Amino acid sequence: MKIVIASDHAGFELKEQIKRHFAREFEFEDLGTHSAESVDYPDFAHPLAEKVAHDPSLFGVLICGTGNGMVMTANKHADVRAGLCWAPEIAALARQHNNANILVMPARFIPEETAFNIFDTFFHTEFEGGRHERRIAKIN
Ligand code: RB5
Repeated sequence: MKIVIASDHAGFELKEQIKRHFAREFEFEDLGTHSAESVDYPDFAHPLAEKVAHDPSLFGVLICGTGNGMVMTANKHADVRAGLCWAPEIAALARQHNNANILVMPARFIPEETAFNIFDTFFHTEFEGGRHERRIAKIN
């Protein structure tokens, strides 16, 4: 499975760790940032969200300090459902109920191990459909 991933400077280290940790299971397309130098999160969230919005088979991961900048920016794009996840249970529900296609994580507020669990849960949980299909159809 191919995943597009991006972060700002606050999420840079965690992005690199995620890529290393899951390299055998997933193919990553890294849209930056490529260092810990200060950058603006919308410059990374918009290109990633655009890709996901135009390819229904594609999933994305966005990481910044709180996750809020990334999730606010990504959700400006129609057909993007970005979920801010800080616990594996939230990640499971973002997939089961919201059919989230972008996972957003707050690098400054979760330990690395929790981030790995969130990522693992998100990408191994299916959308439940049913009544949730009707609800997500009303988002746009
Ligand atoms: C960067 O300092 C920080 O503002 C950013 O990573 C993010 O938390 C914004 O929502």
